[in-house]
Amino acid sequence: MSKANQLRSRLTRPVVLVGLMGSGKTRLGRMLARALRVRFIDTDDVVIQQAGADIPSIFETQGEQAFRDMEAAAIRDLLEGADRRVQVISTGGGAPMRPENAALIFGDTISIWTRADFPVLLERVGRSNDRPLLRNADPEKTLREMAALRYPVYRQADIVIDTDAGSLNDILSRALARIEEALTS
Ligand code: S3P
Repeated sequence: MSKANQLRSRLTRPVVLVGLMGSGKTRLGRMLARALRVRFIDTDDVVIQQAGADIPSIFETQGEQAFRDMEAAAIRDLLEGADRRVQVISTGGGAPMRPENAALIFGDTISIWTRADFPVLLERVGRSNDRPLLRNADPEKTLREMAALRYPVYRQADIVIDTDAGSLNDILSRALARIEEALTS
């Protein structure tokens, strides 16, 4: 059995990624799911599908609170509802800030905080315009303020992976090794 297959056979909990926008949750999440041969799902995509609209439109027409309610519903479904299974889940950067989401995300799961320095975050988020909270004159300031509020919450994760150093393969190997450790400890 390959190392990833061995790991998959021991995995009994969902793997959940948290971190700031641009920190690489989706990128790493997809790679982990492929390596472990489990489903990958992004809570932003669940919300987009349910709302039938993209995130900027949801924020614009229904407001952030409505988005947060849909996000919380998606997290409940994936972590304690009908859709709970061994899978890799990427959450939106703000998701763990609701205590009920945090209880599920950092509960009976393997949680991973993806972390990167600000220049890297800014370069990545600058590639698209689909994040309404950064559509302002100073996205760096916004990200720094978010980090100050959110890092103490993200810190509850079982595993921290720096995504601004090394190749994608290296980042994946580090994450797999840390998951293995988390299953052993
Ligand atoms: C948000 C992050 C986004 C998305 C929404 C709000 C946030 O997801 O949920 O734009 O509050 O940090 P990503 O972290 O996947 O970009």
